[in-house]
Amino acid sequence: MALASEPVQQNQAQKDAADQNFDYMFKLLIIGNSSVGKTSFLFRYADDSFTSAFVSTVGIDFKVKTVYRNNKRVKLQIWDTAGQERYRTITTAYYRGAMGFLLMYDITSQESFYAVQDWATQIKTYSWDNAQVVLVGNKCDLEDDRLVPTEDGQRLAGDLGFQFFETSAKDNINVKQVFDRLVDVICDKMNESVNGDASPVANHKTPSLQDTPPESQGGCSC
Ligand code: GTP
Ligand code: MG
Repeated sequence: MALASEPVQQNQAQKDAADQNFDYMFKLLIIGNSSVGKTSFLFRYADDSFTSAFVSTVGIDFKVKTVYRNNKRVKLQIWDTAGQERYRTITTAYYRGAMGFLLMYDITSQESFYAVQDWATQIKTYSWDNAQVVLVGNKCDLEDDRLVPTEDGQRLAGDLGFQFFETSAKDNINVKQVFDRLVDVICDKMNESVNGDASPVANHKTPSLQDTPPESQGGCSC
């Protein structure tokens, strides 16, 4: 994969991507304006690394990470899209089949926040109806430069029916939590479809995800 830097990481990444040993595969997309921190967020989650250099993404790339939920392997195929307008035709082609989106803005950029509505429209236009979305206000370590109040993010997420988190890829704040929540709501949605249960997502008791295989056996709530 083009995103991995060291040969060892590359081998691991290739192994992860090729690994067919999983129970569920969730395709996730990270979208939002250029420079909001999408690539940094994915690197923090998948490799626990961060760099302050800005190398704008060309087109699209992906990383794979496996999480465990009630003894089931859930393979996350996470697509990191370019925020620049000129790649829009390429990136929207990948929306189809995505089960979840991380729609990201930068809390120090009003422009990136104003663009959220447009990104939400893109999701509605190009993805399937049941796709789950988390609105992510990134760079919350830059409190002194904040231009988007937390309440504005919360309100917009509420209006759009999205989950909401403020995060920092730099300081590793809420990064794992965002992915955990997204997987949780996708699993809840799958449960609703299978059981015909229309109860709200918040009422479901969902165990938290783990990065290592659990030892005991049990059923999966997916
Ligand atoms: P495109 O690929 O052009 O769409 O941009 P992107 O959204 O992938 O942005 P990227 O991850 O490349 O980050 C842009 C810049 O913001 C880089 O200089 C990062 O180091 C910086 N950055 C990313 N996340 C954070 C964060 O949480 N805090 C701070 N302070 N800087 C961040
Ligand atoms: Mg990028």
